[in-house]
Amino acid sequence: MLRTLLAVLVAVPTMLVVVPAATANDHGLRDVAKRPLVGTAVDMSALANDPTYKAAIAREFNTVTPENVMKWETVEPQQGLTDFSQGDALVRFARANHQVVRGHTLVWHSQLPAWLTSGTFTNRELEAILRRHIFEEAGHFRGRIYAWDVVNEAFNEDGTLRDTIWLRALGPDYIAKAFIWAHKADPHAKLYYNDYNLESIGPKSDAALALVRQLKARHVPIDGVGFQGHLGIQYPYPDTFGDNLERFAAAGFDVAITEADVRMVLPVTPEKLATQATYFGDMMRSCAAVRRCVTFTLWGFTDKYSWVPGFFAGEGAATPLDEAFHPKPAYFALRDALARAG
Ligand code: G3I
Repeated sequence: MLRTLLAVLVAVPTMLVVVPAATANDHGLRDVAKRPLVGTAVDMSALANDPTYKAAIAREFNTVTPENVMKWETVEPQQGLTDFSQGDALVRFARANHQVVRGHTLVWHSQLPAWLTSGTFTNRELEAILRRHIFEEAGHFRGRIYAWDVVNEAFNEDGTLRDTIWLRALGPDYIAKAFIWAHKADPHAKLYYNDYNLESIGPKSDAALALVRQLKARHVPIDGVGFQGHLGIQYPYPDTFGDNLERFAAAGFDVAITEADVRMVLPVTPEKLATQATYFGDMMRSCAAVRRCVTFTLWGFTDKYSWVPGFFAGEGAATPLDEAFHPKPAYFALRDALARAG
């Protein structure tokens, strides 16, 4: 009752947003609006060892994505030896907290097991290996995953297909085959193509739209497209993001923001935090404005656990909560954008 009441209260015009500041610690982004579902990537070792992190995920989010533990290198470290235990742990946590799980990711060119990347396999063997992996992993989590990132990052910036082990072994049709196998393994899961730098209307997102339209025309089971949303305030905001989401939705696809973060060149300043808040708010508004934008997932929600500093030297502070889990202006920008979505 209290939760519904607060959700309703929050939906009323802006001045009430002041109220939530005081309750930022007991009611979360998940309570503000019915759509989009709001989520985060989950670092499973932090979930196991950091109670503040664990409580924050339960409070704030109604969808979760495994940051690394459903990736091939983790689920099949040795050929034929599968280990889904960490993925199972996340599914149990999500179920206990009334959250849906986005599976990430079945087919990618990165974080592959060493036995696969250093092995000598024929193309036919690689096709059989990929098919078995999809049936094993999607089959294992059958009925427990809301949506899978079936194929991740298959395009170059110019819209050509990325040269990967899968393209070389199976040709461009590896993408269609992956979706067909994933659907057979779990007919319940929504199936997504996921990529970065798709936010703007341009060669890469044009190529992705052409691909998914072609798959749909061939009756290949595909439901949606994931826009990762890794932004940086040192780069212009992708102003065509909203129109881009709308055109994919108009083409008959669900859309999702799957890995949102907004990094900055350190040190942090109040001006940079204000710009970050605008970028996050604009992304959420773009999603909220498109009825088929079903989930908005952060790629980490606290600066204490973020991939950014490890990959971009001198950059960081990319998430809406700081290292001490205190809400930054970006947190309230997300909350405000959600409140207006209502
Ligand atoms: O598990 C090993 C651990 O045994 C070892 O001690 C440690 C020290 O090197 O490395 C650990 O592996 C790290 C792994 O994350 C798990 O923490 C890898 O070095 C590290 O490279 C890996 O980074 C992940 C990255 O994908 C790999 O590409 C990030 O956490 C993860 O946030 C990031 O996520 C990707 C999405 O999947 C796809 N889109 C882009 C996004 C950001 O790169």
